[in-house]
Amino acid sequence: MDHRSTNNKLAVVKNDGPIVAVSGLAVLILVALVFYDSALPEWQAYQSEFRNIVEEKFGSERAQSVPVGIQQLHVKELGITDRCITCHGGVMWKGLENSPEPYRSHPREILAKHPIERFGCTSCHGGQGYATDAGDAHGPIEHWEDPVLGSRMGEFYVLSDKRALMQMHCNSCHRYDRETKGASFLNRGKQLLAEKGCRACHVINGRGGTVGPDLTYEGTKAPEQFNYERIKGFHSAFTWHVAHFKSPKDLVSESVMPQFGFSSADAQALAILVMSWKKAAIPLSYVPNHNFRDVPTADEKAKEERMLNGPGAFFVKKNCFLCHSISTLGIEAAAQIGPDLALAVTDVQSRFGRTLDDFLAKPTGTMDVVLSTMITLTPEERNEAIEKLRFAHQLKQQAEAIAAKRKK
Ligand code: HEC
Ligand code: HEC
Ligand code: HEC
Ligand code: HEC
Ligand code: HEC
Repeated sequence: MDHRSTNNKLAVVKNDGPIVAVSGLAVLILVALVFYDSALPEWQAYQSEFRNIVEEKFGSERAQSVPVGIQQLHVKELGITDRCITCHGGVMWKGLENSPEPYRSHPREILAKHPIERFGCTSCHGGQGYATDAGDAHGPIEHWEDPVLGSRMGEFYVLSDKRALMQMHCNSCHRYDRETKGASFLNRGKQLLAEKGCRACHVINGRGGTVGPDLTYEGTKAPEQFNYERIKGFHSAFTWHVAHFKSPKDLVSESVMPQFGFSSADAQALAILVMSWKKAAIPLSYVPNHNFRDVPTADEKAKEERMLNGPGAFFVKKNCFLCHSISTLGIEAAAQIGPDLALAVTDVQSRFGRTLDDFLAKPTGTMDVVLSTMITLTPEERNEAIEKLRFAHQLKQQAEAIAAKRKK
C-alpha cells in the first residue's frame, strides 16, 4: 500500500515536467516529504508517542528505557512470533491503566497466569502476529482467517459481553476444563452441552451417538463449507452456528436436530464453544487437565447400573435410554430428547396414525435416522421392544386406573 501511494505521487510529479522546471526546488522538497512520510512505518509513530507518554508520566530517564525498533515475542512451542508489543508498548507497565490504546497496561491477573514470554499475544487474541501495521495485525484481512477477536468484532455481532469471542481461543487450551474462570460464555456453552444431551446424537472427544456429525473438530471447518442460502445479513461461520442453534430446520430442512428454544445469548455461547474445537498442534504442557477422560460421571454410571437390573434393562442395553424415559419401567433418559415411551402404544397411533409395530418396522423422522445409523434392531429385538413397550403401557394404564379410583 505504502509503496503504491508513493509511486503514484512520484509519477504525477514526473509527468509535470514544465512545473518542475519552474519550481524545481519546491517540488524536490515536496517529493522528499511525501517519500519520508510514507516510508515512516506506522509503528514508529506509536513508539514515539509511547515514549512521550512515559516521559510525561514517569520522567525522561524511564523514557530512555523504552525499547526502540520492532519488538517481538517468539514462542517456539506454539510456533508464534508476535510483534504486537511493537505498538502495544505499555502491556507490562504499571501505571498506564488509563492511557489510550495501544499504550495501556494490560489487565494483570490474566498475564500472571499466562506470562507473555510463554504465551505471546495471538494465542489468546488472534490476529497476525508478524504484522507491524495495525490493519494487518488486527484484521480482518483477506487470506487471514484469524482476526483479533476484540470488542469491535463483538459489537458487530451484538454480544452482551463484547470481548466474549476471544474465549474461542481460551478453549483451544482449556477444552478439558469443566469451568474456566473469566470465560463465562464457554462455561455456559459447556453447561448446555451436558444439560441438553447433545452427545446422544454427536460424538465429541471420541464419545457419543452417530445421528449427527462428529463435532470433535467442528471449529476447523472452513466458513465456505456452510450453506448461507437461508441466512439474512452477514455470512460467517459464527452467524451460521447462531442461526442453526436457534432453529436447525430453518437452515437444514431435513435435520432431526431438535429446536431447543435457545435465547440469543445461549446460541452465541454454543457457537463460541463449537467453533473453539479446532485441531491445533498445542503441546500438552499448554493444556490444563489433558489427562481428563471424557467418560460418564460416577453418578451417571451408578444410575445406569441400577436401570440395568430393572425391568427396562433392554432399553439401556440398546441405548434407547439416551433419548427416552420409560417411566413405568424405571428408565430415566440421559437427555429428554424423545418422548416417554410408557405411552408409545397409544401415542404412536394418535400421532402417526400407525401401530407401534408398523412404526418400528418403517420409522420416520428422528427414529428413521436413529435406526439406520446408530442402533440396529434385529427382528427378534424389535419384537422384544414392542412386547416390553406394551407391558410398560399396561403398567401406565393400571397406575392411571388406581389414581382415578382414589379420586372418587
Ligand atoms: C492468556 C490470554 C492473554 C494473553 C496471552 C494476552 N492477552 Fe490481552 N487480554 C486478555 C484478556 C482476558 C483481556 C481482557 C478482556 C476484558 O477486559 O474482558 C485482554 C485485554 C487486552 C487489551 C485491551 C482490549 C480491550 O478491548 O480493551 C489489549 C490491547 C490486549 N489485551 C493486548 C495484548 C497484547 C499486545 C498481548 C501480548 C503481549 C496480550 N494482550 C496477551 C487475554 C490475553
Ligand atoms: C501498528 C501498531 C499496532 C500493532 C502492530 C498492533 N496493534 Fe493493536 N491496536 C493498535 C491501536 C492504535 C489500537 C487502538 C485503536 C484501535 O482499536 O484500532 C489497538 C487496539 C487493539 C485492541 C483493542 C481493540 C478491540 O477491538 O478490542 C486489541 C485487543 C489489540 N489492539 C490487539 C493487538 C494484537 C493481538 C496485536 C498483534 C497481533 C496488535 N494489536 C498489533 C495498534 C497496533
Ligand atoms: C496456549 C494455551 C492457553 C490459552 C490460549 C489460555 N490458557 Fe489459561 N492456562 C493455560 C495453562 C497451561 C494454565 C496453567 C494451568 C496450571 O497451572 O495447571 C492456565 C491457567 C489459567 C487459569 C488459572 C487456573 C487455575 O486453576 O489457577 C485461568 C483462570 C485461565 N487460564 C483462564 C484463561 C482464559 C480466560 C483464557 C482466554 C482469555 C486463557 N486462559 C487462555 C493455558 C492457556
Ligand atoms: C436428535 C439428535 C440431535 C441432537 C440431540 C443434537 N443434534 Fe446437532 N445435529 C444433528 C443432526 C442430524 C445434524 C446435521 C443436520 C443439521 O445440520 O442440522 C446436526 C448438526 C449440528 C451441528 C452442525 C454441524 C455441521 O458442521 O454442519 C452442530 C454444531 C450441532 N449439531 C451441535 C449440537 C449441539 C451443541 C447440541 C446440543 C445442544 C446438538 N447438536 C443436539 C442431530 C442432533
Ligand atoms: C438419539 C435420540 C433417540 C434414540 C437413541 C432413540 N430415539 Fe426413539 N425417538 C426420538 C425422538 C426425538 C422421537 C420423537 C419423534 C420425532 O421427532 O421424529 C422418537 C420417537 C420414538 C417413538 C415414537 C414415540 C411416540 O410417542 O410417538 C418410539 C416408539 C421410539 N422412539 C422408540 C425408540 C426405541 C425402541 C429406541 C431404542 C432402540 C429409540 N427410540 C432410540 C429419539 C431417539
